[in-house]
Amino acid sequence: MTDQGPEPVASSGAAARVLSGLEEATWVLAGFEHLLRSGALSGEGLRLQTREDHAAASMLAAVGLVVGDDRPELANGLLELVSDGSLHTRHQAMISTLRQVATSMGIVAAHDGDGWAAQDDDTLLAQGKSSALGGTMLAMYAIPSLEGLSERFAAGGDFLDIGVGVAELAAAFCEAMPNARVVGIDVLPRVLALAQQTITARGLRDRLEVRLVAVQELTDVAKFDLAWMPAPFLPEEVFPVGLRRVHDALRSGGWLVVGAGRFDDDALATSVTRWKTLRSGGTPLTPDDARASLDSAGFVEIRELPTPPGAPALYAARKKPTT
Ligand SMILES: C[S@@+](CC[C@H](N)C(=O)[O-])C[C@H]1O[C@@H](n2cnc3c(N)ncnc32)[C@H](O)[C@@H]1O
Repeated sequence: MTDQGPEPVASSGAAARVLSGLEEATWVLAGFEHLLRSGALSGEGLRLQTREDHAAASMLAAVGLVVGDDRPELANGLLELVSDGSLHTRHQAMISTLRQVATSMGIVAAHDGDGWAAQDDDTLLAQGKSSALGGTMLAMYAIPSLEGLSERFAAGGDFLDIGVGVAELAAAFCEAMPNARVVGIDVLPRVLALAQQTITARGLRDRLEVRLVAVQELTDVAKFDLAWMPAPFLPEEVFPVGLRRVHDALRSGGWLVVGAGRFDDDALATSVTRWKTLRSGGTPLTPDDARASLDSAGFVEIRELPTPPGAPALYAARKKPTT
């Protein structure tokens, strides 16, 4: 690999090898998913029971995630990665990815519409569950690091979740912040019906409300202390208008956190992020774009929040406090 990407393939044999490697990688992911689903791979390690489990584990061994021929175990790095409680999220993210790939290839029937509207309910549910950790992270890490928010959410506090989907992120936020009230907005009636099921199942009817409204049509004024806005899911023509509506909807001194794909990674990761953002009809936001658009919507104290490797970029920005 060079900074520009790999060397171009010079023969048909080399081209065929690259393509088979990509197909093999999909099977490795399916094997990983099998081990998670069967419970053979958990936060405690590997417990292989069937021949299929062993075969799946050897695919993981071939990419360095499993070690030991006689008694296969998770490689230290993978054990460390999965023992932090994020395994369920990773599993759901894998299901969502594989289902989105299948929809993109016409294998899973697409619904009418573009972007998220094209995904079936199972994909929306898996994507929602994979985003739940985002709600917990906002509560545990963003709130304590953004001035004034810990105090507001200790006493109540209002959170706005833009693109609430099936409400998994919003529900996880409610559970991490037991005094908070949450409003989630979305443009798809079908996801909001699924969101209602999440809200009922989690007993959150009194604190979590969902509304069928587009962010660019939000009319609330000074109602929220914190808002979450995921750029990769919001159309490019909507994003700047949405930022202004959210600025109006925040209370003085309230904060917005914007999630964005990373475009400064290696060539493969960057091009995949670009493709996924395009497919879901979203905004590819670079760090410069993020700062410029937040600034022109009137936000102050714009900064990037630290995130772990492989996680999306997060930008925080504040509505100027009136003193
Ligand atoms: C990937 S989903 C969000 C998943 C969500 N965190 C969950 O827990 O399910 C992104 C959502 O953004 C919604 N969306 C797209 N454009 C929107 C807009 N202009 N205003 C509000 N929501 C929008 C989509 O309908 C979709 O449900």
